[in-house]
Amino acid sequence: MCGIVAYVGDKDAFPILIKGLYRLEYRGYDSAGIALLNESLKIYKTRGKVADLENFMQDKDHKGKIGIAHTRWATHGEPNDINAHPHYSRTKKLAIIHNGIIENYGPLKEELISRGYRFTSDTDTEVLIHLIEDIRQNEGVDLPEAVRIALNQVIGAYAIVVISDDHPDMLVAARKGSPLVVGIGDNEYYLASDATPIVEHTKDVVYLDDEEIVTVKKGEKMLLKTIRNRVKTPYIQKLEFNLSALEKGGFEHFMLKEIYEQPRSIRDSMRGRLNARDGIVSLGGILDYEPKLLNTHRIIIIACGTSWHAALVGEYLLEELARIPVEVEYASEFRYRNPVIDETDIVIAVSQSGETADTLAAIELAREKGATILGICNVVGSSIARATHAGVYTHAGPEIGVASTKAFTAQVTILTLMALRLAIKKGTIETSRFQQIIDELEEIPRKVEETLNLDKEISSIAKIFTYARNFLYLGRGYNFPVALEGALKLKEISYIHAEGYPAAEMKHGPIALIDREMPVVVIATNRGPYDKVLTNIQEVKARKGKIIAIVTKGDKKVRELADYSIEIPETEELLVPLLATIPLQLIAYHIAVMRDCNVDQPRNLAKSVTVE
Ligand code: M6R
Repeated sequence: MCGIVAYVGDKDAFPILIKGLYRLEYRGYDSAGIALLNESLKIYKTRGKVADLENFMQDKDHKGKIGIAHTRWATHGEPNDINAHPHYSRTKKLAIIHNGIIENYGPLKEELISRGYRFTSDTDTEVLIHLIEDIRQNEGVDLPEAVRIALNQVIGAYAIVVISDDHPDMLVAARKGSPLVVGIGDNEYYLASDATPIVEHTKDVVYLDDEEIVTVKKGEKMLLKTIRNRVKTPYIQKLEFNLSALEKGGFEHFMLKEIYEQPRSIRDSMRGRLNARDGIVSLGGILDYEPKLLNTHRIIIIACGTSWHAALVGEYLLEELARIPVEVEYASEFRYRNPVIDETDIVIAVSQSGETADTLAAIELAREKGATILGICNVVGSSIARATHAGVYTHAGPEIGVASTKAFTAQVTILTLMALRLAIKKGTIETSRFQQIIDELEEIPRKVEETLNLDKEISSIAKIFTYARNFLYLGRGYNFPVALEGALKLKEISYIHAEGYPAAEMKHGPIALIDREMPVVVIATNRGPYDKVLTNIQEVKARKGKIIAIVTKGDKKVRELADYSIEIPETEELLVPLLATIPLQLIAYHIAVMRDCNVDQPRNLAKSVTVE
């Protein structure tokens, strides 16, 4: 949940670190800190955002060609100056930054207290740095070895970087369950939670694996080993995205930029995978597992949040087109309920970040039971991408806004391609129908563009409902997950209570909430159970609810009943989620902006949820 960045080389570390923290701020933003080593090791840290840290450091000593920095999302201990990272060791000769949770910090802390250690913070991290220093002093080993021995005593998740004033040109870092990337520059190294602070300096990176420790020294080759002391050869990869992907590019917020990127990101998700002219759909990443997919008796899709909503669309698609039974599970529930699963099962994990702790744990459980695990991830080299047997990257590009937008449509695009590929291979779809759908799929980016042109109109509708206290979102069939997603977008960034429901379920409870104060967003596109949704709209109208309807261009019946209508282009029923989600993202965005909310960094949230 936190962001870590570190540098060692010939350049001044401070500007690199502070900029790196801004890039990583989407991961956590309740406190931030920096340690710089010049003549001595100095730590500066404060509660608040990276900008608060930058202000705080204005008149401080910025010197140093080596440093570590952290932006935090609190787990152990409230967000305050003391609990912020980095943390000193007892002698103040070492400092650490940490992302993750040390589960056995209690017994380790007691042991250290019994030996005279005093703790200044409430964090689990401080335990680790005392432990490292204790081992170094008592066992007479060097810093990398002390870190290695300490990590063998730790239960939990970590990405750490340790700096020592005995080593002005060396950093020691390690990971388990929390991501860490090493950037290799000219005579210099960068370390970070993801590649976003690194890409402007170098494209050569090494993604650490779990239980690996790396020692980087200016001007020397990196030394990579496991915590069991096995030396490994680093696998250097090239970063494939550019700096522009990390800038707002003239938009007021990352979220808006990412909403507007969707014509491009959907195209990128399909690139090299969909060839409508020749009638081909292929997913190279999972080709080896295709025979198994074609013969499986069921697929289980695991995910959280928005990715779970994309998975629900995937269920409808795979069942309708490929006739494979699909179960969609919240990863957090799946991992704790002893599911019936074995080597005949295929589990698909869907995750934007590829770091979600619950999804990772669910993968682990399924793997132990012998299932084949496939992944649909956005972040290249992420933990989930590595934990799966094979997978497909969504190629949506970095998503910085905490509210997921373009990742959702990219995930749905991949699931659509997967369902189509399996259907044509299994013979569960006529070739002519297959061709009809893929021709239409190719049109979707253009239709998303058309939908984005409605932004002004959507913004004026949003204005009317800025001060609503509750919202209801209704949809049926493919539009039910869309309703869930619309409600999640609104609640997470505007703090308005919103519920998504299958439209027909409304009469089993939520209808009691409807009065003239209640805005009800109904996705009522013209295919599928249109007439049924019409009836649901009448039920809302009869109770004086205010209807905002997402309708197909040219619609008459719903428009007559709805208070406000947003017309999206006509498309295949099974492709509607790719279009209908766009106005819902924009409604949430505009309402949040009008309510003066921090759209990109909503309260209490962070981009990747690496804790339970
Ligand atoms: O990175 P993941 O897709 O695994 O993340 C899952 C959820 O944490 C994420 O979708 C979350 O719900 C977003 N804030 C939704 O906008």
